[in-house]
Amino acid sequence: MEKKKFYITTPIYYPSGKWHIGTCYTTIICDALARYKRMQGYDVFYLTGTDEHGQKIQKVAASNGVEVKKYIDGVVDELKRLWKLLDISYDKFIRTTDEEHEKAVQKIFNKLYEKGDIYKSAYEGWYCTPCEAFWTKTQLVDGKCPDCGREVELTKEESYFFRLSKYQDRIQKLIEDDKEFLQPVTRQNEMLNNFIKPGLQDLCVSRTSFDWGIKVPFDAKHVIYVWIDALTNYITALGYTGDNDELFKKYWPADVHMMGKEIIRFHSIIWPAILMALDLPLPKKVYGHGWLMFNNDKMSKSKGNIVDPFILCERYGVDALRYYMLREVPFGQDGNFTNEIFLKLRNSDLANDLGNLVSRVTAMVSHYFDGVIPAPTDSQEVDRQLIDMAEKMYPTVTSYMDEMRAPEALETVFKVIQRANKYIDECTPWILAKTDEGKERLKTVLYNLCESIRMSAVILQPFLTQTPSKIFAKLGIGEDMGLTGFDSLQKFGAKIDGLKVDKGEQLFQRIDIAKELKVMDDILEEQLKKAKQAKKEEKKVENTVTIEQIGIEDFAKVQLKVGKVLECKKVEKADKLLCSQIDVGEETPRTIVSGIAKYYTPEEMVGKQVIVVTNLKPAKLRGIESQGMILCAEDENGELALITPSKSVKAGSEVG
Ligand code: MSP
Repeated sequence: MEKKKFYITTPIYYPSGKWHIGTCYTTIICDALARYKRMQGYDVFYLTGTDEHGQKIQKVAASNGVEVKKYIDGVVDELKRLWKLLDISYDKFIRTTDEEHEKAVQKIFNKLYEKGDIYKSAYEGWYCTPCEAFWTKTQLVDGKCPDCGREVELTKEESYFFRLSKYQDRIQKLIEDDKEFLQPVTRQNEMLNNFIKPGLQDLCVSRTSFDWGIKVPFDAKHVIYVWIDALTNYITALGYTGDNDELFKKYWPADVHMMGKEIIRFHSIIWPAILMALDLPLPKKVYGHGWLMFNNDKMSKSKGNIVDPFILCERYGVDALRYYMLREVPFGQDGNFTNEIFLKLRNSDLANDLGNLVSRVTAMVSHYFDGVIPAPTDSQEVDRQLIDMAEKMYPTVTSYMDEMRAPEALETVFKVIQRANKYIDECTPWILAKTDEGKERLKTVLYNLCESIRMSAVILQPFLTQTPSKIFAKLGIGEDMGLTGFDSLQKFGAKIDGLKVDKGEQLFQRIDIAKELKVMDDILEEQLKKAKQAKKEEKKVENTVTIEQIGIEDFAKVQLKVGKVLECKKVEKADKLLCSQIDVGEETPRTIVSGIAKYYTPEEMVGKQVIVVTNLKPAKLRGIESQGMILCAEDENGELALITPSKSVKAGSEVG
């Protein structure tokens, strides 16, 4: 019988080189799902890769003084090393600089152009370089990029557009009617109300302001801009439009596109529209998971709050990291990582519950039965409870995994492991061992324990990639015995009696948490130092490479005046903002909102003399109209200081 197929994808990663444990989340969860499905007998294709075009990466490579492709090659090697370390079992790693991909994207672009779904026009919009995203004015938040909060530039250029608006009704119907398509369900209303119902606008799909991208086949001064290049990887990786499209025929449509919540919009609106335009079937599911935060804060290298996955794996083992990710992040919601919870979880679940169970049981088999697993001799009520739980484990875990709920799946397995530990305390093997009759009963107890451990290890294989095989080796189970697949979980009672156990080393050494926390703090501090140094270097390059010179006539356009802060208060629900009343020598003081609340208190501000840009267009910040800007200096570490006159001068004095 032909196997059922399962095609699962991660997004393609930006070759930023800033890998942190959050970045690994999508890949690890997909890996667990892919492995689970493989063990269930599906023919799985697991795709990941890198998203290598765009202005940002071109700039980074330039600032490193390296030819862009060479630079990316180095970063991609590093990413592949990380996936190897984390035992990511992908079937293909696509790079958007692969020749087949580039050719296919051009063909797709042509197809859409010929169909009239791509047309040429001019684009004016607010562009955020770090996010490579255009925004309309109304989408900006406080005049900044709604995704990352950074400055945006008003840009106008000739561009090609994808007719997204044409697909408005079909996309709305898709989200409303197919409740399985976009998951978790909370995302459906978010997309409908925030993006689809307000009206889909045509999408700018080419750029002329940089050239690191795939050229528009019939108009070489344009490069194909991000989404048509990036999203189509899911089909070009399978050979769509290529000489050999066997994989495409076999695996498309995808069963699951997995991604972080910030890119759901592109996958649940733009991607299906492109597929509709190409007359291709739609993916079955788009799943947006939450973010992994660090101490409830966004992970960021500049904040120095990220833990290097390489270091974590080396010190504590890949399974400890995989376990944390899969167990602690409630699926679909944001999860939190702290070094302390990570170490505690490793100690409690992996070292204590699982590790101790395996070492206690193998030690007892060695001690009481010369290392040979005995056959059971009887059956009592206390056995039934453990056996029931072990037998129900696989169907329960499967139903959770069908909903991509890895934390609950793992919890189910660990409940069996905890029950087995309790079973030891209830059955008191050390007392049973004292009499002949007791020793007969002990055979059943130890058999039941070994079988519970085996069944747990079988189910743990998609989640933990190293520990289960160590457990099998300890129980004397070889790969060829038919005792490690999901089909061996139908019934409790596999033929493991007679196997020779090998107690060997502890699966997980307990960790001295206080000592390790100190080590991790030192590592973080070192990283922060490095990040600061790197930021300094970046600034240096920015100053020398990208800052354009201006003439005195440009400078003269800026009106600067001395102002005196009369009143100042915090802006509600905005941690960073202060709102000041500033006398700049006019009839009434000006209201100015500035992002300085982290550096100055309102009390400190009152009475200060500051320099104000007085001819800046007013802008609304959190509903308050800000009538100018206060000048500040910011160093490469993000430290900020107000610029003030060196001695008191009259409010309203011109600066220049
Ligand atoms: N290149 C785009 C995707 C294009 S897909 C056609 C991109 N790349 S990314 O490198 O920024 O992100 C890759 C994946 O890592 C995304 O799923 C993203 O959500 C995930 N994560 C990055 N940081 C994360 C956390 N802190 N926590 C969880 N996942 C996060 O977006």
